[in-house]
Formats: sequence, C-alpha cells, structure tokens
Amino acid sequence: MASFRNALVLVFFMTSMVVSGSNFFQNFDINWGEGRGKIVNNGELLTLSLDNYSGSGFQSKKEYLFGKFDMQLKLVPGNSAGTVTALYLSSGGSNHDEIDFEFLGNLSGEPYTVHTNVYTQGKGEREQQFRLWFDPTDDFHTYSVLWNPRTIVLSVDDTPLREFKNLEKIGVPFPKTQPMKVYSTIWNADQWATRGGLIKTDWTQAPFVASYRNFSADACVVFNRPAAAENCTSEGANNNPWMSQNLDPNSEEKLKWVQKNYMIYNYCSDGKRFPGGFPPECYA
Ligand SMILES: *[C@@H]1O[C@H](CO)[C@@H](O)[C@H](O)[C@H]1NC(C)=O
Ligand SMILES: *[C@@H]1O[C@H](CO)[C@@H](O)[C@H](O)[C@H]1NC(C)=O
Ligand SMILES: *[C@@H]1O[C@H](CO)[C@@H](O)[C@H](O)[C@H]1NC(C)=O
Ligand SMILES: *[C@@H]1O[C@H](CO)[C@@H](O)[C@H](O)[C@H]1NC(C)=O
Repeated sequence: MASFRNALVLVFFMTSMVVSGSNFFQNFDINWGEGRGKIVNNGELLTLSLDNYSGSGFQSKKEYLFGKFDMQLKLVPGNSAGTVTALYLSSGGSNHDEIDFEFLGNLSGEPYTVHTNVYTQGKGEREQQFRLWFDPTDDFHTYSVLWNPRTIVLSVDDTPLREFKNLEKIGVPFPKTQPMKVYSTIWNADQWATRGGLIKTDWTQAPFVASYRNFSADACVVFNRPAAAENCTSEGANNNPWMSQNLDPNSEEKLKWVQKNYMIYNYCSDGKRFPGGFPPECYA
C-alpha cells in the first residue's frame, strides 16, 4: 500500500514539477527587439542580435522555484567590444531575487569577462568576475545554474565558477520564496563594459549575434504565484535530485581551481568598496 502510494506521488510530481526540453518555441517568448531575436530550425536554435538601433531578448514562458537550468550558448564572435550578453534568472518585482551571468564582449582576440551577481530581496552588490579557459565564441558551451534551498551554483561545462550558499543562519537573505523566469538579452553597454568604457562598440561590425540551443530545466514549475511555495518546497519536491544537490569534493576542487586561476574580481576582497567591513557572507 505504502509503495503504491509512493508510486502515485512520484508520478504526480514527475508530471507536474519537472519540465525538460530544448524546444525554444515551447519554452520561450522573444519579448524584445522587433525581429532581432529569432527561433529557427524547428525550435532548436535561438539567436539574439544587436545593432545600432536595438538589442533583443527572450524570457521563459514558465516561472520556476528551484531547479537545475542549462543553456548552451555561443557568444558574439570577432569584435564584440561594448556588447553585453546576459543570461539570468529573475523574479522581477520590487524586492527581486536574481542570479546573473553577464558576458562582456571584447576586441577580437581579447578575452571576454564573465560577470556574475546574486540579488536577494532587491540587493545585489555581490559581483564576481571570471575569465574563461576557452574561447566562448567558437563553439557552444553549457552555462548552468543550480538553485535549491541549500545553495546556488553557477557553472560552465559542469565546472563551478561560483557558489552562493544559503547563509540565512547568519542573516544573509536567500532566494527561496519568489519564483523566477529565465531571461536573456543582448544590449549595448559601451559606456562601461569593455575596459571600463574605453573601447566603444564598432557598429560597422553589426549585427552582433549570440546563439542558444539545448535549454533544459529540471525544475519546479510554478503555475500560480501566490501559492507557489507549496508545490516547490513540499516533501514531494524534495524528492527531486536537484533539490538536495550541492558540490561534491571533485566539484569543490574544480571551484577552487577556477577561483585561483580565473577569478579576476571578487567583491569580498574589494576593501575600498566596503570600508565598514565586508557583507557577512564574505566571512563565512
Ligand atoms: C578585454 O581585454 C583586455 C586586455 O586583455 C582586458 O584588460 C579586459 O579585462 C578584457 N575584458 C573587458 C570586458 O574589457
Ligand atoms: C549609430 O547611432 C548613432 C545615434 O543614433 C549615430 O550617431 C551613429 O552615427 C550611428 N553609427 C553607425 C555606425 O551607424
Ligand atoms: C543537451 O542538454 C542535455 C542536458 O543538459 C545534455 O545531457 C545533452 O548532452 C545536451 N545535448 C547536446 C547535443 O549537447
Ligand atoms: C502544483 O501542481 C499542480 C499540478 O500540476 C498544479 O495544478 C498547481 O497549480 C500547482 N500549484 C502551484 C502553487 O504551482
């Protein structure tokens, strides 16, 4: 009897909570850019472009509360200086939670900067920046966010760049009640993006195009916002493997390797910015 009931519970949560799939028509709406964002190849490929008039962007149709999100992305090739391609999860609203990857373009042959941030209850200021150990413009690579009640991990090709642990016990708010959508945009940020704004976008190179494929979300879908937390934090939700996943020792090693060799900025070591002491998570 008990196992029969468990089987039912399992089926229920499999169908209601876990979505997965790479069809962009099913999963996303192009919500900005008047034709500059396109879904092609029967929904297998999505491209966003930026020109002198506008950037473009898309957002997921669904909202999620916890999950493992993967997107394969090929960044703007050649001279991408001044461009920013962002891939992020955000709850929207006034006290929003947000988990960000931003890819700051550069001159041909010069390295992209991967800028990351985590906002909780409307407050960010938790920037960390990285170089990559490959050229992100010559092929697709997988950029992932794991988000569960214990931790948030941002990874590239299964190598973690950054972890933001749940440190509510020392008073750091953690995103766990507001569902988020997946967004991506490409825009012109030549006021600041490349070498602090010294290098401007070369519009003769436009359009600047970023390409996306093979999105997957093993995640809890929220159909009805006010009651959101119920489905996604219930006992059933906790059966999902991504709900309890965190870094295994091998991933911890990789994270250390990235932080030692590829991290170029960390707010937790920028004393000038925090003369009165670093935010509490920096001491954890
Ligand atoms: C662009 O390349 C220069 C020179 O290597 C580097 O200093 C800079 O951090 C790179 N990235 C950006 C976004 O400016
Ligand atoms: C881009 O647009 C700006 C303002 O709209 C204009 O001044 C500039 O000449 C344009 N550049 C190119 C290369 O089209
Ligand atoms: C697509 O993504 C899934 C899940 O992230 C992965 O297992 C699969 O290998 C990917 N397919 C391709 C063609 O990269
Ligand atoms: C929970 O899942 C069920 C089944 O799919 C759905 O009908 C319901 O709206 C969901 N509740 C919330 C709060 O998302």
